[in-house]
Amino acid sequence: MSADELRSYLELYRDLGFDSVYIRKSPVRPVALSEVIVAQPATAVAPAPAPALPGLAPEDDTLEQIRLDIGDCKRCRLCEGRQTVVFGSGNPRSPLVFVGEGPGADEDEQGLPFVGRAGQLLTQMIENTAAKEGIPIRRSDVYICNVVKCRPPENRTPLPDEMEICGQFLFRQLMAIKPKAICALGSTAMKALLNSKEGITRLRGKWHKWRDIPVMITYHPSYLLRQYNQQAKREAWEDLKALLHFVFD
Ligand code: URA
Repeated sequence: MSADELRSYLELYRDLGFDSVYIRKSPVRPVALSEVIVAQPATAVAPAPAPALPGLAPEDDTLEQIRLDIGDCKRCRLCEGRQTVVFGSGNPRSPLVFVGEGPGADEDEQGLPFVGRAGQLLTQMIENTAAKEGIPIRRSDVYICNVVKCRPPENRTPLPDEMEICGQFLFRQLMAIKPKAICALGSTAMKALLNSKEGITRLRGKWHKWRDIPVMITYHPSYLLRQYNQQAKREAWEDLKALLHFVFD
């Protein structure tokens, strides 16, 4: 890649709202775009035309490579309290990926996403809805991961810089799997994928896009575990029905 091509590639990322990029070879750290996009000299000729939207991940990226690149991650403060990096689980060739917020205590202990109470509810929702709708899938047929891979202290919501740093790995996971659809569980996943400030109640139940991939937004299972949420539960089941039919019919 020529210097001009690299420059327009990085400028495109900056214009898309990224302020750091992940560089695989050393230095293994997020690099601020302002460090790598230097001002053009006044005498520069017309810039090269921007290339077609670049892939966020190398064409031949794999989940194994992404996990290797995460390594024993120390890129943000979440590493301080975690026991395990919770990467993701399920079918790596699934046409459907569920994205949650971040690991809780059970997930941190077991190294797997959605294995605590919210995870049990998610499993039931997927398997019961699929069975009722005559769709022959189990939880192990889909892929499940989170926006951040390390447990936030006291299960707090991930902070914007944590989401941005770890979001690069989520985006690579999604690009490597290339599912037919993504389901964003709750507002953190919604914000990470749609970059939207809207409330989840306005955006849930409708189709959106992350790059070219359809995204269904629905409530996070932890929210549905609260007893007064009967209406939200009904809505989440409707969202899931629409999603499963879209992906598996
Ligand atoms: N909540 C999440 O968002 N992700 C998990 O993995 C577990 C609970």
